[in-house]
Amino acid sequence: MRCRKCSHPAVIKMPRHNIALCKDCLTEFVHTQVRRAIDAHRMFTTNDRVLVAVSGGKDSLALWSILLKLGYHADALYVDLGIGEYSLQSRQKVQRFTEAVATSYQATLHVHTVEQEQGAGIRELATLVRRPTCATCGTMKRYQFNRVAIEQHYDVMATGHNLDDEAARLLGNVLHWQTDYLDKQSPTLPASLDGFAKKVKPLHRLTEREIAAYAVIHHIDYIVDECPMAKGSKMLAYKRVLNQLEADSPGTKHTFYLKFLDRQAKQRQEDSQTITEQDQHRLHPCETCGQPTSTTVCTYCKMMAKAGSHA
Ligand code: AMP
Ligand code: FES
Ligand code: ZN
Repeated sequence: MRCRKCSHPAVIKMPRHNIALCKDCLTEFVHTQVRRAIDAHRMFTTNDRVLVAVSGGKDSLALWSILLKLGYHADALYVDLGIGEYSLQSRQKVQRFTEAVATSYQATLHVHTVEQEQGAGIRELATLVRRPTCATCGTMKRYQFNRVAIEQHYDVMATGHNLDDEAARLLGNVLHWQTDYLDKQSPTLPASLDGFAKKVKPLHRLTEREIAAYAVIHHIDYIVDECPMAKGSKMLAYKRVLNQLEADSPGTKHTFYLKFLDRQAKQRQEDSQTITEQDQHRLHPCETCGQPTSTTVCTYCKMMAKAGSHA
C-alpha cells in the first residue's frame, strides 16, 4: 500500500477519505485538521494561554503534543481520580510525557489529586453520594478543569474529545431528544460568565483511529486501557454501533457530526443569539463556591456536601 500523496509506504488506510497515507503525510493531515478546527471555531490564537486536560490516553497526550508543535502556549492539567492501578498508570504516562517532551517547550503540568484534596477517591465519593461513579467523576472533572483554568488565568481549556466521542454523544443526545444538550454540543463553548472558562475540542475532526496512528508514529506512550468504570457504558455501545455503520458506509461519522455542526451554525445565525447570551440568562454564581450554575448551589458543591467533606 502506497501513500496517495507521495508514494512512500503507507501507514494507514483512511476509507472515509478514500486514501492511504505515509507517516509524514498523516502528520501533515492531522496538523491541518487541528489547525482548521482551531481557526474555524475561533478556539484560540498563539497569543492565548491554553490549558489541556490530559488523562494519559492517546487523544489528550497527542493534543498536547500537537499544540506545542504548532507553536501554541499549552500547559496541561491531570486529575488523579484515585482509581487504583488505572490512575497510577495514567499518572505515570502523563508525567513521563511531560518530562520527555513538554518541558523542552517550557510547558507546565498541573496535577489535582482527588484523594488528597477531597478526602477520598472517586469510587468512595460515588458510594457516599449514591451516584454512579462515572457521573460523579464527570462532575468532579468538569469542576476541577474549570477551577484550575480560572484560578491560573488560562484563556481557554482544551479536551481531547475526538470525532468518535462527539458522534457517539450526538447519537445519544438524538436518541433521547436531549435538546438542551444538543444546543451545547459545540466544539467551542464560550466563557459565558466571569468564572466560567472557554472550552474547546480541537480534535473533533479526527477519528480515534487516526489519532492512535499519529500517537504511535510520534512515539507517544499512552495508557491503552479504558477506565475500568467505563465497562458497559452507553457511550461505548453508541461507538460500537457507529463503527458498524462506518464499516458499511465509510464517512458516516464524519457526515453525521460535521453536518450537525453546519446546521447548528446556521440555526444560531438565524436566531442571532450566541450560547453566551443564552447562558447569561440562566447562570449565576454558586452560593457556596462562586462557580457559575443554574441552581442556587452547584452540582459539585451539593455532591461534596452530601459526601460530608466539602473541599
Ligand atoms: P473521557 O471522558 O475519558 O472520554 O475523556 C475526554 C477528555 O477529557 C480527554 O480527552 C481529556 O482531555 C479529558 N480527561 C479525561 N480524564 C481526565 C483526567 N483524569 N485528567 C485530566 N483530563 C482528563
Ligand atoms: Fe471517570 Fe472512569 S474516568 S469513572
Ligand atoms: Zn459550588
